[in-house]
Amino acid sequence: MHIDIITVVPGLLEGPFSHSILKRAEDKGLATVRVHNLRDYAIGKQSQVDDYAFGGGAGMVMMIEPIARCIEALQKDRTYDEIIYMTPDGDTFDQPMANSLSLQKNLLILCGHYKGVDQRVRDKFITREISIGDFVLSGGELAAAVVADAIIRLIPGVLNDETSALTDSFQDGLLAPPVYTRPAEYEGMGVPEVLLSGHEAKINQWRFEASVRRTKEKRPDLLEGSGWE
Ligand code: ADE
Repeated sequence: MHIDIITVVPGLLEGPFSHSILKRAEDKGLATVRVHNLRDYAIGKQSQVDDYAFGGGAGMVMMIEPIARCIEALQKDRTYDEIIYMTPDGDTFDQPMANSLSLQKNLLILCGHYKGVDQRVRDKFITREISIGDFVLSGGELAAAVVADAIIRLIPGVLNDETSALTDSFQDGLLAPPVYTRPAEYEGMGVPEVLLSGHEAKINQWRFEASVRRTKEKRPDLLEGSGWE
């Protein structure tokens, strides 16, 4: 998979992709992420990428020309399966969306800033608009990093233990069960006996029941219509 990200603040995206699982994905050649500075596509000496909103009001709007130049330059090298705009008024990101995006080959993510992009950018180029929740960030960069992380870790071979993404919270519609590691006793606090038994079927049964219990407690909305409520 290849992900291109367009931003006016490339520095915000320098960290996430050079560490841990995301770096490993890049080193293994499973996912590449390239960050593009929108100012490199700006018109005029001032490198202007934003302007006042027609009709007035506070806040600047990202101009269509630099964005169009950038997207069209990137499209010379590849065909994108989705061109995504990060925005608080987009569809709320969730695990099924991460699963389906992880099957794509080429993604382009545009990060909004200021008051957002000229509506004509959305009308002309964007195939999907994503929000990471009902709150407003100062730009789409951190949201883009969240989306890219959730997608890349699902690509087969990225995680060391191939099965571990399958047992994540939400992957089967339930929250993940509690987990424990050594020591088996800490200041009088033990570990559920069954987890020390080595009996795989019983352990799986315990984990499933604990998942349902935890989901009932913390996110009963996830169980509606499942038959487990
Ligand atoms: N840009 C600003 N806020 C955002 C959000 N909640 N999700 C996605 N992009 C954003």
